[in-house]
Amino acid sequence: MMLKTWIRKSVTRQMTTIGNKVEAAKMAAAFRAVDENLKPNDRIIGIGSGSTVVHVAERIGQSSNKDSFTCIATGFQSKELIISNGLRLGSIEQFPKVDIAFDGADEVDSKLNLIKGGGACLFQEKLVASAASKFVVVADYRKKSPSTLGVQWTKGVPIEIVPNSYAKVTRDLQEMGAKSVILRQGGSAKAGPVVTDNNNFLIDADFGAIEDAEKLHSSIKQLVGVVEVGLFIQMADQSYFGEESGEVSIWSK
Ligand code: A5P
Repeated sequence: MMLKTWIRKSVTRQMTTIGNKVEAAKMAAAFRAVDENLKPNDRIIGIGSGSTVVHVAERIGQSSNKDSFTCIATGFQSKELIISNGLRLGSIEQFPKVDIAFDGADEVDSKLNLIKGGGACLFQEKLVASAASKFVVVADYRKKSPSTLGVQWTKGVPIEIVPNSYAKVTRDLQEMGAKSVILRQGGSAKAGPVVTDNNNFLIDADFGAIEDAEKLHSSIKQLVGVVEVGLFIQMADQSYFGEESGEVSIWSK
């Protein structure tokens, strides 16, 4: 075999192995989180967004009592997951009190503070999580931060904003010390900015390693134009991490 072809095949094989490992980790975390936390008397269940939650919906969909509860979505993808797994769909307007919510995260610190919004669904995710009596995070090993937020997830803090405020909020964030402030673009899938499920825009503001996530959260939240910030402070009760080894580790409050 030509050297170039051999190298290409070997790199592809390696990437497939890494991809499989990550997917297996996501699945292990999701299945265990559902098995250990979903109780027979839970009636209203929040379903987050992203690739890890796919496995949460799949596991919940295997429940024998699925006619006895209703699932609340956190966006379009989440709605589709609920429907395709044969679960009953309800809305947060009908059920403002949620028994338990499951969601992924982009980064988790040891205090269970989170960065979320990599998938642009942060507002509805926070709405549902804040209505939940218990909030359980599911993630793979790459999401664990040994210290502060902003170390593993370096794309910046996702911030949902009202569209015509983007220039003003960008300036505000720069004045607050953000290293970079980017209006998230649709890339090859859409010319122009990403539009959220709530018809808003998203800014990714990189503050580097975040020393005081709570303080940063309240400062950003106060800016006129900001709908919601992808920093989830002290909201999660537990986080399940699928490890590279195939094990699942759990961080609790
Ligand atoms: C969606 O906006 C995000 O908050 C997701 O929950 C987060 O990005 C995790 O997604 P993955 O499970 O795909 O990593």
